[in-house]
Parts: sequence; C-alpha cells; structure tokens
Amino acid sequence: MGRAGGITSPMEPTPPVHIPVLLQGVLSFLQVRPGGVYIDGTVGGGGHAAAILAASAPDGRLLGLDRDPAALEVARERLAPYGDRAVLRRGSFADLIHLAADFLPADGVLLDLGLSSLQLADPTRGFSFSQDGPLDMRFDPSEGLTAADLVNTLSVRELTDLLYRYGEERQARRIAEAIVAARPISRTAELAALIERTVGRRERIHPATRTFQALRIAVNRELEALEAALPQALEALRPGGRLVVISFHSLEDRIVKQFLHREARDCICPPEIPVCVCGHRAQVRVLTPKPVRPDAAEVAANPRARSARLRAGERLAG
Ligand SMILES: C[S@@+](CC[C@H](N)C(=O)[O-])C[C@H]1O[C@@H](n2cnc3c(N)ncnc32)[C@H](O)[C@@H]1O
Repeated sequence: MGRAGGITSPMEPTPPVHIPVLLQGVLSFLQVRPGGVYIDGTVGGGGHAAAILAASAPDGRLLGLDRDPAALEVARERLAPYGDRAVLRRGSFADLIHLAADFLPADGVLLDLGLSSLQLADPTRGFSFSQDGPLDMRFDPSEGLTAADLVNTLSVRELTDLLYRYGEERQARRIAEAIVAARPISRTAELAALIERTVGRRERIHPATRTFQALRIAVNRELEALEAALPQALEALRPGGRLVVISFHSLEDRIVKQFLHREARDCICPPEIPVCVCGHRAQVRVLTPKPVRPDAAEVAANPRARSARLRAGERLAG
C-alpha cells in the first residue's frame, strides 16, 4: 500500500513512473554483489530490479515475478539493457518455489507488496477512486472475481466483515448497508461518492480509502498470498541469503513481523508446555528489530512512500 497501495488522496499528483521505495535499504539488506542470484517476487515497473541488476553487474542474475501482465511489459522494457541476466515470469509469489525452481538457491528475495503507481494511475484497472473506472482491482485481469463481483453479491454481513477485517473500517456496517441498498454498482467513482454520502468527510484521507483497500486485498487474496510466500521465500535462500519485505499497511506488516520472529526461535511450543515438543529450529536471524521507515526527504519526494515499512531477515545455516 502507500505510494502504491491505494491510500492516496485525490489531491496527490500521480507520478508518471513508479519510484522504488526504500531503495538504498533494499540494496544494503540484500547485500547485492556481483554474481549474486536474486528473486524479485513483485517486479512491477522494474525499479528495484534494475537497481539490483546494476549493483550485481557484471554477472548477477535476477528473476522477476508479477501477476500483472501489463507490469511485466513495463519491466521487460526497463530491464532490456541487462539482457539475459534478467528473466521475467508471470505468476504469483504464492507459487515462488515452483516459479523460481531454476534460480535456487538464491542470495536474496525481495517482496515489495501492494500495487504500483502505474496500476493506480490507470483508471481502467479500477484501483483508484480519484479517477473513474470499472470496479475491477485484479492484479491479474484474467483471474478471479472483480471488486464489482464482491460489491454486488456479498451480503451485508459478509461485506461488513470484509471492510472491517481488511480495511479496519470502523463504519463497516453502515457502508455495507449503503452498498447493498444502492447496487448494482459498477464504477469506482460511484462507490466513492456513495461512501462519502454515507459517512461524510471527517478525516484528511478520503472516506473511501479503507473500503478500496479492503476490496483490493480481498479481490487479490493478498494476505493469503503473503502467508503462502514467506516460508517459500526462506526456503528459496541459501544459508546467509537475505529476505527483504516492504509492506504498506499494518495487516501485511504484522504477518511479516510474526513470521520473522517465529522463524528466529528454536522452539515455538505454547508457553504452557514445559518441555519442547515442536522440534522447531530457528531458520532466520532478524535484521530489523524495528521496521525501517522512509526518511522525511524520501516521503517529500515520493508521498506514497509514507506508509512503507521494511523488514529483513537472514537465512541461517541448516
Ligand atoms: C509495489 S509494486 C512493485 C514495484 C517494484 N518494486 C518497482 O520498483 O517497480 C507491487 C507489484 O506486485 C505485484 N503483485 C501483487 N501481488 C502479487 C503476487 N501475489 N504475486 C506477484 N506479484 C504480485 C503487483 O502487480 C505490482 O506490480
């Protein structure tokens, strides 16, 4: 989320390109070096990937994944100067081990979650409420239900749960009731206006922000994909290899934090069990006890970076 996660305001100009967030942090936590092998699970516009390829010259290799064929087209053009050092594949990072089978073991895995400025800026994708478009929101436009499908078919109760769980929206029930009373709804501007009429404008951010976030997370099953990807990302690394994840809202960040902290422990038995029965062994050294945040200069240059949080871990031997 953040610069790329749909938390944006209609006042904010959309940058014509996607600016990679926390770029220096990514390169240094990944310890990018010549000859290294890297997996960018969210290649997007190729910004981080290009920097990784430049820093791993002359012979580093990078596999870039994305669910969005349009993003892969942009990345293909951006990474063309690196020739066959860059390989791009369409797919979800939830299938990372399978998609990256010929890149294992890797020296580094990057996940830069959410959506890119390019997706947000394209009204035909339906991610933005500041420009009208069809209520779609799928990263992969060939797969699964659209936001309109959810909005027009879920019950009040299901919509309330969805908005509360994925948007942390306190007015979830009021919004869900208004949606059900007004359907069918097919356009982003229509939904944003309905929400504004229903709950009014009380905060700096648009009142539809949390609903749009919630729908996007649900449409793309983003939290499930992240939960599936993290163990695979760790498995993909050689001992000493690095995992870097940038998240843009607390739901994602909590999953990453809990995963890293759990995998950094030798025993994960519940505290009431006196003797370890789980046999779990630490697989990771946490490199970021606290998440790394962008500094004021980065946020000023790229306002969408403001909610970014980077966490990193190093795979332990064995
Ligand atoms: C924030 S952007 C990445 C930007 C990129 N780091 C750059 O510098 O240009 C996130 C990208 O992840 C993609 N994405 C989201 N969920 C995904 C998933 N489960 N698997 C693969 N790609 C995904 C989106 O389509 C989007 O292009």
